[in-house]
Amino acid sequence: MDRIDYVIKLGGSAITNKDTPLSPNTEVIESIAKELASLQCRKRIALVYGGGSYGHFIARRYLENGKISSPQGIAETRSAMLSLTKKLTDVFLSQGIPIFCINPSSCFILKYGEPEPKAFFLKLILKALGAGLVPAIGGDIVLNKECTARVLSGDTIARMLATELNAKALLFGSDVDGILYNNKVIKEISKEEMKRMQSKVSGRNGDVTGGMAGKLKEVDKYLSQGGELSVIFNLTKLGVLTKILKGQEVEATYIRSHHKGVG
Ligand SMILES: Nc1ncnc2c1ncn2[C@@H]1O[C@H](COP(=O)(O)OP(=O)(O)OP(=O)(O)O)[C@@H](O)[C@H]1O
Ligand SMILES: [Mg+2]
Repeated sequence: MDRIDYVIKLGGSAITNKDTPLSPNTEVIESIAKELASLQCRKRIALVYGGGSYGHFIARRYLENGKISSPQGIAETRSAMLSLTKKLTDVFLSQGIPIFCINPSSCFILKYGEPEPKAFFLKLILKALGAGLVPAIGGDIVLNKECTARVLSGDTIARMLATELNAKALLFGSDVDGILYNNKVIKEISKEEMKRMQSKVSGRNGDVTGGMAGKLKEVDKYLSQGGELSVIFNLTKLGVLTKILKGQEVEATYIRSHHKGVG
């Protein structure tokens, strides 16, 4: 399987105004597109985007024990994510980025929380890259074998893609500078420290997929599946993404399996 350079999760906390229902953060979406457009050497990148004030806002009205059984709830959550997809697409295209959005709910069902068939999904992403597109996969509401639906978190999709496509790094952009502890950014977390850190980080009101704690769980899984580097950084600050993609150190939380820089 081909290797990709980066999987970048565009956190809903950055690309939407998470406390205002159905509200995009157009300024941030536009600056991300501009930064990606001005990168001098084209990287093989897969984008993943979170539900923010779209997916989370609708899903939490209907969610019971991690599932949505109401057909109305499933359809409304999906519709909200389609609105965010359209917004992201329009802004990226306006900046000359040939974004190719893929909605998981249309490609597969869930088995034990993982997409099936996974091979088809991965092939689609690689074909999109081969066609010169920038694939972007959204967190989504996905049907399962029992004919109910679960929220498939963007964090989970990002971890899965980074693992399966053997990415150099798994990058999580959100609206904070990294993992905070006593109001300070933790610069580095080793693989061994991950379990201890998870118990110190909380979720966030209204986030149905575990907030920052859910993210750390995915990073932990990523490292245990052979991942080398994950960076949790602030996507709302201009230029931080560019620096990371150029291999420069930024204020962020670096989680490494070994002591090694971003290449
Ligand atoms: N210890 C912590 N360090 C950093 N952020 C934290 C911590 N504890 C809680 N948070 C919260 O986690 C939020 C980021 O997680 P959240 O899931 O809301 O963002 P996201 O993943 O970008 O959004 P989405 O799930 O919509 O894609 C931050 O805005 C912050 O308020
Ligand atoms: Mg989240």
